[in-house]
Amino acid sequence: MGKDTALKGNNAKAAVLVFLILIVSLFHFLIPTEPHTSHKIHIILRKLYFLPPVMAAAWFGLRGAIWTTAVVSAAFTIHAFLDWPGNYMEQANQLGELASFWVVGLVPGWLFDRQRSLMAKVARANEETLVALVSALDMRERNTRLHSQRVRDYTLLLADRYGVPEEARSVIGLGALLHDVGKIAVPDHILLKPSGLSDAEWEEMRRHPDEGFRLLQRIDFLREAAEIVHDHHERFDGSGYPRGLKGEEIPIGARLFAVADAFDALTSNRPYHSAEGYDEAARVIREKSGSDFDPAVVEVFGKVDSAEWGRIRERYAEKTQQFPLPEDPNSGPKGEGQGEGDIVD
Ligand SMILES: [Fe+2]
Repeated sequence: MGKDTALKGNNAKAAVLVFLILIVSLFHFLIPTEPHTSHKIHIILRKLYFLPPVMAAAWFGLRGAIWTTAVVSAAFTIHAFLDWPGNYMEQANQLGELASFWVVGLVPGWLFDRQRSLMAKVARANEETLVALVSALDMRERNTRLHSQRVRDYTLLLADRYGVPEEARSVIGLGALLHDVGKIAVPDHILLKPSGLSDAEWEEMRRHPDEGFRLLQRIDFLREAAEIVHDHHERFDGSGYPRGLKGEEIPIGARLFAVADAFDALTSNRPYHSAEGYDEAARVIREKSGSDFDPAVVEVFGKVDSAEWGRIRERYAEKTQQFPLPEDPNSGPKGEGQGEGDIVD
């Protein structure tokens, strides 16, 4: 859906360029260079030819600018020879104008390409920094590096099938990646305790969505993702925490994440349960549709082929983090939850 939207956007921009070139060329060809008054309009129209190369450079980069400038140059050259036959001085003047089209097309085209590539580099550096941060947190809590990245990809798989637009998907991906960043504030003796947390310890543990939210909302490019971090333990029926949000009060990113995280928790070895196979994990998720999870998300989950989950799992497989394939006959027994019937982490 994201690619389709981008394609539609590019087609609309290309249509605007074609329309602009046609209109400017039409008037340029039709309005005569004599008398003097119409010549003034003619000169203004000539300047409007600069617009399409600059717009193409901004929208499509260097390659788009080259194509657009070539079309503009062709229209302009034909007009120059038709309107100024034998007038070599004026033709030279028009050729100078032609060279200017290429300068205003090619230079911004190159600059916009460079800007895009630098922006992509900065985005990659930001992502690598965040991945290093969550890997360190994962190592601290689970002795694995890849849990958060795996859950991010599970969430993005669901977001894609749910039809979430591209821009919202990148926010959801960041939210899923950073969901447990607030656990940095949870003391080791609570976080690393395998089971049997006291009420006071649970209370401490349940502060982590608020802590994560507070941490991320101060960072401009993570402000939207912070909402997902805040709500990643909310449940569809309102029984979650920290705010007890219900139904569509919970952002869609957090509703998608809840199913993805539960799937990961169920299909991973934990101190309190062995890894389930796909079928059992899917059964538990279906069972909690409408209570823990948004039924619409559970429906989408059911339509994703088990092999697609398996591919993500294999991408982020670790020696310490194995769980059986859906058809593996050695699937472990059903776990007993995390002490309060919570199947997410
Ligand atoms: Fe969490």
